Amino acid sequence: MAFLRWIFGLLIVLIVVYIVCVMFYFTPDTHSSREAMTDALQRLRCAKLKLKFSNITSAKRLNMKSFTQEVDDFLNCPFKPNTTEQEINRMRLQFCCNATGSIFLTKRNTAVNQTIPYETTIKSTYKMNPAIHSMLPEDFPWSGRRLGRCAVVGSGGILKNSSCGREIDSADFVIRFNLAYINDSDVGLKTDLVTINPSQIQREYNNMEKNPDPFVERVSVYRNASLAMPAFAYTYCTGLSFRALKLLHPVRPQQPVVFFCPDYMRTLHRVWKGRGLKVARLSSGFMLISTALELCESVHVYGFWPFDTDLQDNPVPYHYYDQIRPYRTQHRMPEEFVRLLLLHSQGALKLHLHPCSSDDR
Ligand SMILES: *[C@@H]1O[C@H](CO)[C@@H](O)[C@H](O)[C@H]1NC(C)=O
Ligand SMILES: *[C@@H]1O[C@H](CO)[C@@H](O)[C@H](O)[C@H]1NC(C)=O
Ligand SMILES: *[C@@H]1O[C@H](CO)[C@@H](O)[C@H](O)[C@H]1NC(C)=O
Ligand SMILES: *[C@@H]1O[C@H](CO)[C@@H](O)[C@H](O)[C@H]1NC(C)=O
Ligand SMILES: *[C@@H]1O[C@H](CO)[C@@H](O)[C@H](O)[C@H]1NC(C)=O
Ligand SMILES: *[C@@H]1O[C@H](CO)[C@@H](O)[C@H](O)[C@H]1NC(C)=O
Ligand SMILES: *[C@@H]1O[C@H](CO)[C@@H](O)[C@H](O)[C@H]1NC(C)=O
Repeated sequence: MAFLRWIFGLLIVLIVVYIVCVMFYFTPDTHSSREAMTDALQRLRCAKLKLKFSNITSAKRLNMKSFTQEVDDFLNCPFKPNTTEQEINRMRLQFCCNATGSIFLTKRNTAVNQTIPYETTIKSTYKMNPAIHSMLPEDFPWSGRRLGRCAVVGSGGILKNSSCGREIDSADFVIRFNLAYINDSDVGLKTDLVTINPSQIQREYNNMEKNPDPFVERVSVYRNASLAMPAFAYTYCTGLSFRALKLLHPVRPQQPVVFFCPDYMRTLHRVWKGRGLKVARLSSGFMLISTALELCESVHVYGFWPFDTDLQDNPVPYHYYDQIRPYRTQHRMPEEFVRLLLLHSQGALKLHLHPCSSDDR
């Protein structure tokens, strides 16, 4: 009897082991349960990174190696825009700075003989001359309408080989900087607003009155895009910006030269400083991302990566179009980048640092 019971018990054990084995190795559930496990871990990692980056305030003491890995992982996490956060940013920016009414000088918001204090030294002022006033635009190029999906395209070398051109060109409004070269494969061609740095004129087109073709050709590439210049940032900017305006006004009427309102730039700088961003002066990139947060339905940011290796630790040039090294003054860029990461983690804008796939937006 005891022997039979022993055999029976052994049989039961074998059956149980067999069932467990079958469940473990042969049922189709195994695979998906393992996937569910990885999914859960992935979601946990994403939540952790979101928490971390929504609390980041400074680029000081960043461990670049782990930072890059975390940014890589974080940007692979699903992105959910937060419309509440977007509206809060929009209202805050409208209230403080009002790009809607005052990003550029226009005939409407500026009078002849009006005194215009400079952005960086309000002790220096410019008195608006009637001839220059007559060449200011009547209104903003988008005349008060809310812009849709905006792409703000920085000049970072991270855009090289990115294949992001199509995605960028599918935006409703595209902002670029410093007459950066355009290229259908990586950065796109569509341009609605492009900035010109007055120092570019000094450096590359200083005899443009005698020989206008190179400069006119350089800006014509952007078809009907507005050309924005910080004419009243520093006093040296004014003459150079006026020269560009006087040259282009008669020959490129479809491409208005517009001047940033120094008041707008100064206020914007003060507001970000109040929110803990410690930089001597905002970069034009960061400034126009702020503008886009106010004016656009959604903001997509490309080519902002101020570090010298990419997310896979490969060396990356500073610009996508040349080999120039950053100047010392550009050390503020990491501080601004950390802010962009924070805005991304809040769902206020979307940062793009990976190559674009054909069906991605
Ligand atoms: C956020 O940052 C503060 C100080 O910078 C720190 O004390 C706090 O633990 C951080 N919170 C999270 C969730 O990381
Ligand atoms: C969206 O942002 C608001 C305001 O910051 C916040 O209260 C809310 O929790 C956020 N929603 C999600 C899903 O993160
Ligand atoms: C912003 O400027 C526009 C146009 O000048 C004006 O109508 C609007 O009231 C201003 N908004 C705020 C919040 O000051
Ligand atoms: C601007 O100032 C000049 C003198 O400096 C004056 O002759 C002219 O009438 C003024 N124009 C306007 C529109 O105030
Ligand atoms: C576009 O950019 C890529 C990479 O930067 C480069 O290889 C290619 O030659 C460029 N094409 C044109 C038409 O400039
Ligand atoms: C871009 O691709 C070309 C050829 O495919 C390669 O030689 C070059 O190193 C790549 N550049 C970057 C920055 O990845
Ligand atoms: C550019 O502007 C001209 C004149 O204002 C207009 O006829 C043309 O349709 C515009 N082109 C584009 C691509 O918007």
